[in-house]
Amino acid sequence: MARYFATCARGLEPVLAGELTALNAETVEPGRGGVTFTGPAALLYRACLWLRTAVRVLRPVHEFDARTPDELYEAVRALNWNDWMTPDHTLAVDCNVRDSALTHSQYAARRVKDAICDQFRERVGRRPSVDTERPMIGLNLHVSKNRAILSLDSSWDSLHKRGYRPIQTVAPLNEALAAGLLLRAGYDGTAPLVDPLCGSGTFCIEGAWAALNRPPGLTRKWFAFQGWADFDRPLWNAIRDEARAAVRKNLPAAVRGSDVRADVIEFARGNARAAGVGNLLAFETLDVRDARPPAGPPGLLICNPPYGERIGEEQELIGLYRGIGDAVAAHWRGWRLFLFTSNTMLAKKVGLKVVQKSPYFNGALECFLWEFAPV
Ligand SMILES: C[S@@+](CC[C@H](N)C(=O)[O-])C[C@H]1O[C@@H](n2cnc3c(N)ncnc32)[C@H](O)[C@@H]1O
Repeated sequence: MARYFATCARGLEPVLAGELTALNAETVEPGRGGVTFTGPAALLYRACLWLRTAVRVLRPVHEFDARTPDELYEAVRALNWNDWMTPDHTLAVDCNVRDSALTHSQYAARRVKDAICDQFRERVGRRPSVDTERPMIGLNLHVSKNRAILSLDSSWDSLHKRGYRPIQTVAPLNEALAAGLLLRAGYDGTAPLVDPLCGSGTFCIEGAWAALNRPPGLTRKWFAFQGWADFDRPLWNAIRDEARAAVRKNLPAAVRGSDVRADVIEFARGNARAAGVGNLLAFETLDVRDARPPAGPPGLLICNPPYGERIGEEQELIGLYRGIGDAVAAHWRGWRLFLFTSNTMLAKKVGLKVVQKSPYFNGALECFLWEFAPV
């Protein structure tokens, strides 16, 4: 059994806690920007494979006070690094600092690396080499209010990088945030899903993966825990095989995306193909006001319109937000509309009855998911 901390976008903690509980994690405790939980190695592997809303899963090694680079160095050097690695392991350290006397995160990371390398050099005359691309031991140092937490990072590359979106188009949503918003909206794949301002197709692809019961980590080639001393390869292979066998071949209900820009729709199609769902999703070039629901029962409309952050843009967008509300009222009877934006003035222009709004951080930007009552 070990204790872990899974990080996520702020606001998604309850959703991530729900995902962890569904994976049978124990002592699940939502905190700020993440969720603490405990469990055996099998749970860690399942968490990295299955969590849709997590950005990283960290395994804390040591927690201590650190006000200066020297204090940091001494605390890290005092740990017994033989417990975690050998000089033949490759190493990398990532660091973030907040509200602390230590302000230079890169220098702090270097002191941690030096402390570990110096310990090995002194003990066995050799030191681990650094590999920032694919370290066997990737460490995460988080310093907040002079309190440091040093953790093993189980994936190294963050979990939201699913690998299907190599091309960056107009302001794409973080994949883990998109997946979390879908879960928050109650999407379970049984009702149709439409994003009429789909951009690179993130909501549609994340929705399709959820509806297919496809774990977001299935196509990832490498997780950092595969380099850990206690890595159990047969267990990991069995967990991945079991997950692969449980993926559905077909969507229970339609998933569609449209966008006014033809070039963007081409990107969305390419991303869907890369995600292995190109043959299951329908994308079309359309103005949101011309989009119509698929035949059958009503479902969930979700979108992330432009926020209007540039001067002058906000005024131009009033018509777009108003148009979304008018089109839904006229053509989408019974559908639940969810709209994700940082701009409250614009969200109010939708003009439909608001059921609720909940806050999330999209990077440093506070945004809200607005839910409107079906017409
Ligand atoms: C913030 S981006 C959406 C990003 C998307 N969620 C993603 O993850 O890639 C907003 C999108 O709205 C589209 N858009 C703007 N006006 C539109 C309109 N009238 N009808 C349909 N799409 C529109 C833009 O082309 C852009 O792709």
